[in-house]
Amino acid sequence: MDSQNTYWTDRALLEWQVELGVTDAILDTPVDRYALETVKPAPNAATPEKPVVAPEVVKAPDVDAAALARTAAQTAADLDALSGAMQAFDHCELKKGARSFVFSDGNPAARVMIVGEAPGREEDRAGRPFVGRAGQLLDRMLEAIQMGRAADNAAQAVYITNVLPWRPPSNRTPDASEIAMMLPFLERHIALADPEIVVLMGNTPCQALLGRTGITRMRGEWVDVLGKPCLPMFHPAYLLRNPIAKREAWADLLSLKARLRG
Ligand code: URA
Repeated sequence: MDSQNTYWTDRALLEWQVELGVTDAILDTPVDRYALETVKPAPNAATPEKPVVAPEVVKAPDVDAAALARTAAQTAADLDALSGAMQAFDHCELKKGARSFVFSDGNPAARVMIVGEAPGREEDRAGRPFVGRAGQLLDRMLEAIQMGRAADNAAQAVYITNVLPWRPPSNRTPDASEIAMMLPFLERHIALADPEIVVLMGNTPCQALLGRTGITRMRGEWVDVLGKPCLPMFHPAYLLRNPIAKREAWADLLSLKARLRG
């Protein structure tokens, strides 16, 4: 095949993959970057008498990442310090693949704190939570009850964060170890922001903070989280895929509004 043909074939293949929804370029096989970094250089080059010996891989010692996260989180005295401690935390693999660290948005003095799952592509680009399509729907939902992340007064404002501050590859659902590792930071985040009410968007924050999932059954039922009233709701991304569920989401928003009126 001449180079012109190869170009058009490669281009067609690439376009086909983009149409299928591929967003990130990765290799055919995973690369263990720990191994790459820690492979000791062979003492001597191979010779006919002395064949190459398999390189010795030095394994990183096992660390209790959740315990390290807990210590780091506890020492953070305010939100800036917490953000710094999270950015300095190197034990979550997601950090290596993410473009941005996404901490929070909105008014930290808000009466309501919303917890989502993790940044997606748009959030990873912008460095802010909930700015993509799901985020825009969230903004419209909040507007419908006269609230929003841009409001200055604590009564109408919301404060928004996620269970994870780094985008999982291809927006996959965070796994249990990632959630457990980052949970101490989330708990500290809630303690420092000290909202009156916590809203959990979807299954991932329910798994993290309530230890269970099943948002279809859990949504709309007030529970207690870290000593605060907490409302699980459908995630706006779910509402985009299942517009029929907006009816329940509206009921939950009204329940939130009523609770705020006290
Ligand atoms: N979905 C989330 O859960 N959080 C975001 O920040 C964006 C999309």
